[in-house]
Amino acid sequence: MDSIVVTGGAPLSGKIAIAGAKNAALTLMPATLLSEEPLTLTNAPRLSDIATMTALLQSLGVEVTSMQDGKVQVLSSHAMTSTTADYEIVRKMRASNLVLGPLLARHHQAVVSLPGGCAIGARPMDIHVTALEAMGAEIELKDGYLHAKASGGLKGAKVPLRFASVGATENVLMAATLAKGTTVIENAAREPEIVDLAHCLRRMGAQIEGEGTSTITIQGVDRLGAATHPVVTDRIELGTYMLAPVFAGGEVECLGGRLDLVGSFVEKLDAAGVDVTETPDGLKVKRRTDRAMAVDVTTEVFPGFPTDLQAQMMAMLCTADGTSVLEEKIFENRFMHAPELIRMGADIEVHGGIATVRGVDRLKGAPVMATDLRASVSLILAGLAAEGETTVSRIYHLDRGYEHIEEKLSGVGAKIERISS
Ligand code: UD1
Repeated sequence: MDSIVVTGGAPLSGKIAIAGAKNAALTLMPATLLSEEPLTLTNAPRLSDIATMTALLQSLGVEVTSMQDGKVQVLSSHAMTSTTADYEIVRKMRASNLVLGPLLARHHQAVVSLPGGCAIGARPMDIHVTALEAMGAEIELKDGYLHAKASGGLKGAKVPLRFASVGATENVLMAATLAKGTTVIENAAREPEIVDLAHCLRRMGAQIEGEGTSTITIQGVDRLGAATHPVVTDRIELGTYMLAPVFAGGEVECLGGRLDLVGSFVEKLDAAGVDVTETPDGLKVKRRTDRAMAVDVTTEVFPGFPTDLQAQMMAMLCTADGTSVLEEKIFENRFMHAPELIRMGADIEVHGGIATVRGVDRLKGAPVMATDLRASVSLILAGLAAEGETTVSRIYHLDRGYEHIEEKLSGVGAKIERISS
């Protein structure tokens, strides 16, 4: 299995191009199921999660043509052969559940395995199910699969979500585009990936209002057509690389970065003593002082601090001046990076969903491994600042969400290499 070796201490300088958002692409790709006509996605990221979604869609009969080294994906659902999302693919990635809404909407039936994905908590699907049932679907759980049907098609409805789930909002938004009548999603998630999905669906002919707010109104139409859509910038990849110069020193410009995608994160960086400036091409980041300052962080739904940047922020706070308290409010069990950071010399105490991080002067390189995507990248970042060598194993998690990470970081001066074994 491949590993990545990072040697700490090299200050960074240069530009990193931020890719299209994994989490946007993973909901835009299944949107193709809503139309017989092709959907072309540009600025697509090159990641193993995208390959997994491709395999899932192909298993349903979707034709997927990849161009420009994977940056352009053309998807066509004109000759569908199946409405069953098999466990063998779904278990690899929770986002596979995003085929449920579109399949129900256009084919009036779907059989979707309950998902797998990162080991970060229970991650049930009750919100998706309750919402689609409100639209007239009948859904049963049998042998680990959700069996869903909507005889005569889905109907527009008032759909209040008990929690602003990203995936449930996306499933209902897609489903509602072809439902009869008007659907109003209340307590909708407001993440930029949902706004991006709404823009794409609108290009396909959907009638949607209110994306980016807590109430999204969708007027169902009879059919959707062809569209070309550029995937929004990956705000989590952006936030991750914005932290790199905070660990290593120096200055990095993240090309394609936008403040509106990372507002709450930038506020915390500012409080920690990090300067973020807008440039014509993105965002430039530099530490104001030798050492970052401690800050408290609570993860929340957008526009709050993203849970997907919590591990990276915790790694940064390990060597900050003072004590920081991190509260994880989105996923239980999302501090698996803490024991690994402790092996590198960090002083962290975890009680339930709260981690207390006492800043130490320096981390020391060590062999480490991680059990989820963002935890893995937090260890790479920690390695940039640590004394000596850090070897991160099980990096298949990283390849799910970061394209060419070693090339992007070595391109700005980091000492990092992938070792194949
Ligand atoms: C998406 C992102 C993920 C991110 C998360 C929160 C994708 C592909 N993934 O995941 O990277 O960390 O948003 O920003 O976009 N929940 C329920 N019942 C449900 C659905 C969710 O209890 O039916 C709970 C989950 O267990 C979790 C919380 O709600 O505790 C947030 O989940 P949700 O917003 O649905 O996240 P995902 O869409 O899975």
